[in-house]
Amino acid sequence: MSERRSRRWMLRTLAVGGAFAGGLAHVWAWSRSLVPNVLYEPPKQRRLGAPTRFPEGTTFLQEEKIFVVRKGDVLRALSAVCTHLGCTVGAQEAGYHCPCHGSFFDAEGTNTGGPAPRPLPWHPLSLRGGALIVDLGTEVGPEITLESPLPPEPPKPPRGGRKGDK
Ligand code: FES
Repeated sequence: MSERRSRRWMLRTLAVGGAFAGGLAHVWAWSRSLVPNVLYEPPKQRRLGAPTRFPEGTTFLQEEKIFVVRKGDVLRALSAVCTHLGCTVGAQEAGYHCPCHGSFFDAEGTNTGGPAPRPLPWHPLSLRGGALIVDLGTEVGPEITLESPLPPEPPKPPRGGRKGDK
């Protein structure tokens, strides 16, 4: 094979290889366009269990990062995610406090001090199949409540009491 012919063969191979690679890239891009870009997120509606499991006052749910607030038969759900930079706030005697930068919120979730720019959001509660459902993807005003059909369960007596205790 002469040197001139060998060079021609190499250029032809490079051209065919490049065209083939370009064609493959087009096919891949086209086939990728058939698959939608979907962001898989956990469901925003969470099942919290029977309403009777929430006693009078405020119950913190770590997984959902909410407080379930019960006043008599009325239940509400308040976000525990600070509106400043997203830390988890803690319940206090008369409201909520963020340990990260010191924001304060009153019992209705209104920001009363610190850098938090907005109140804590409330989420709607509903009943489905006897279980409380919170919709973490929706915000409502504090006036939106759910009336529980059942009162809270009475606290259970401690187990294994001493002999003679009654
Ligand atoms: S994250 Fe709560 S005050 Fe900054």
